[in-house]
Amino acid sequence: MPNAPDDAIEKVIKLRAEINEHNYRYYILDDPTISDAEYDRLLRQLQAIEAQYPELITADSPTQRVGNLPSKAFKEVKHDVPMLSLDNAFSEAEVVAFEQRIKDRLHTEAAIEFACEPKMDGVAISLLYENGFLIRGATRGDGYTGEDITSNVRTIRTVPLQLRGKDIPKRLEVRGEIYMPKAKFNQLNEQLKERNEKVFVNPRNAAAGSLRQLDPRITAKRPLEIVCYGVGSRENLTHIKTHSGIVQQLKQWGLRISMEVQVVPSVVECLQYYYSMMNKRPHLPYEIDGIVYKVNNIELQERLGFVARAPRWAIAHKFPAQEEMTIVEAIEFQVGRTGILTPVARLKPVFVGGVTVSNATLHNMDEVQRKDVHVGDTVVIRRAGDVIPEIVAVVLTKRPPHTKIIELPKHCPVCGSEVLKPEGEAAARCEGGLVCAAQRKEAIKHFASRKAMDINGLGDKLVEQLVEVGLVHDVADLYRLTQAQLANLDRMAEKSASNLIAAIGQSKTTTLARFIYSLGIREVGEATALNLAQHFRDLRLLMQENAENLQKVQDVGPIVAAHVAAFFRQQHNSDIINKLIHFGVHWPAVKINQAKQVFAGKTFVLTGSLTTMTRDEATAALQKVGAKVSGSVSKKTAYVVAGVEPGSKLTQAEKLGVTILDEKQFLKLLQEK
Ligand code: IVH
Repeated sequence: MPNAPDDAIEKVIKLRAEINEHNYRYYILDDPTISDAEYDRLLRQLQAIEAQYPELITADSPTQRVGNLPSKAFKEVKHDVPMLSLDNAFSEAEVVAFEQRIKDRLHTEAAIEFACEPKMDGVAISLLYENGFLIRGATRGDGYTGEDITSNVRTIRTVPLQLRGKDIPKRLEVRGEIYMPKAKFNQLNEQLKERNEKVFVNPRNAAAGSLRQLDPRITAKRPLEIVCYGVGSRENLTHIKTHSGIVQQLKQWGLRISMEVQVVPSVVECLQYYYSMMNKRPHLPYEIDGIVYKVNNIELQERLGFVARAPRWAIAHKFPAQEEMTIVEAIEFQVGRTGILTPVARLKPVFVGGVTVSNATLHNMDEVQRKDVHVGDTVVIRRAGDVIPEIVAVVLTKRPPHTKIIELPKHCPVCGSEVLKPEGEAAARCEGGLVCAAQRKEAIKHFASRKAMDINGLGDKLVEQLVEVGLVHDVADLYRLTQAQLANLDRMAEKSASNLIAAIGQSKTTTLARFIYSLGIREVGEATALNLAQHFRDLRLLMQENAENLQKVQDVGPIVAAHVAAFFRQQHNSDIINKLIHFGVHWPAVKINQAKQVFAGKTFVLTGSLTTMTRDEATAALQKVGAKVSGSVSKKTAYVVAGVEPGSKLTQAEKLGVTILDEKQFLKLLQEK
């Protein structure tokens, strides 16, 4: 192997210094001065020289972030200074009591200055630097003995392999937290899912799992970051008098600290900081589970000392947990309007994210299988912010011996009809249609809803009651209800009964679009209902149309068309429609929309032949948009459409000064509708 020449050695030293500087600017100051491509070029130059002269490779070379070879097991590490934990506070009162204990111990009534920091939800880490070089990274372990994970820690870009700046102590142990940013965590889980590998429950588990890889090359691929919040021994730092001073000094040496650290004059501002961070929490790019308050003055810290395994001078003020464990007591299947069966887990009630949760949806059977939930399992429930509670994962280690596997019922739990799950589809469906009380209830709720028939006062609970007592079987029955029948129901006052009867009466005057929407045809939302109404303008025409022709309606594809045609083919659906009309449901003639007013009532005359449609088709198209078609030109004629080889009507039009359209102009006008 050739000995490295001096110029190679010099070049390596220069490149490393340059790269380290850019790392510092990028990762610590968040203020890069070169592009990623330029950075890569520098790194590749260094790699090339190191490949040629491997004896120049050092553990702290920026090329070594890719990870060493795997090891068999982690070595044990004895911490010089134990890595302690923190006492927790869960209320303002406990924080105030914490401050009072401090004042009592110090025999003072003067306000205590605190440093406030986010409590990062990751993995505690100890970084040991000797002469400014990272020589060891270790986990907390039991606080006294941890694991040597140096090779893994070296792969984390935000951990400096070499410190920078002045007066670096001979030996410095830095304490911090390694974590995975939320967005990166989600990306990682997406990748794992795609590869059919096990996903991580939360960013903290992902960080812990990534750090405990025996193969550092895997760790190197995981998006880990660090925030430093203290030191082990203060031996070499006695000139620094405050906690915030120490943290600032760490930053000067190139270590990454939290951007949120704030020094406040008393406990009152600690609480203000707590609430402002609580609001910020959902928007922070990383998870935090509380705030740490630390007495800022180090001399006071030393006077306060420790109790058991935690300092008296610090406390963690926890946020309400967003994740809790509980037990799945049962799984029920809910039947929706279109018959879809949704598995819902009934849980032992648990307080999480600020509310008591006793149900969580599992969406469909695929999800039940993917998450492998059994009745009797202990599960992790998560409720962050306002989102619906979800089952994050099963705690397999807590699975009792005889759990029940969840199976899709063969028959609908409400009506007993067959349940079908088409191959390759996630949804399972009750085939009972309107025989199924659950589907009937949902269909009636939909019919009465604001965007449909808008029956004020007919809420979900009332619909359920009406179906259960047998007063309402289908939507048409609503128009048969009497005030006396309603007044007999539970929790129904005379006044609300008469209001409801009035509201039902008012709903009879509606629009065709609302009426179509309220029928609850699968895949027909408000927009599609409007398109259908505009296109047909007559319910009877719509009801007779076949699936193929339905596709001529704007934005209606083969699936929607098939659902619409199937709906009207069913006798009981047309029976209900007839009953509704019989009971007085009506709507004004459909106004064609503004743009189409161009045609309304206007008389068109066609002459010559068109190349894209027959004369009958052109007539139908015009009539559909409200125009009249006449056989002869007069002063009242609005337009003459002249095709190929026009006849005398064209001359007549020219004579009378009637607007003449050629085929292209005519088609354009039609399309503008
Ligand atoms: S100070 C003696 N500061 O919380 C003080 N800890 O329960 C020891 N943590 O294991 C810790 N953010 O992993 C401190 N800003 C912060 C922190 C923090 C997260 C973790 C740390 C420790 C645990 C204590």
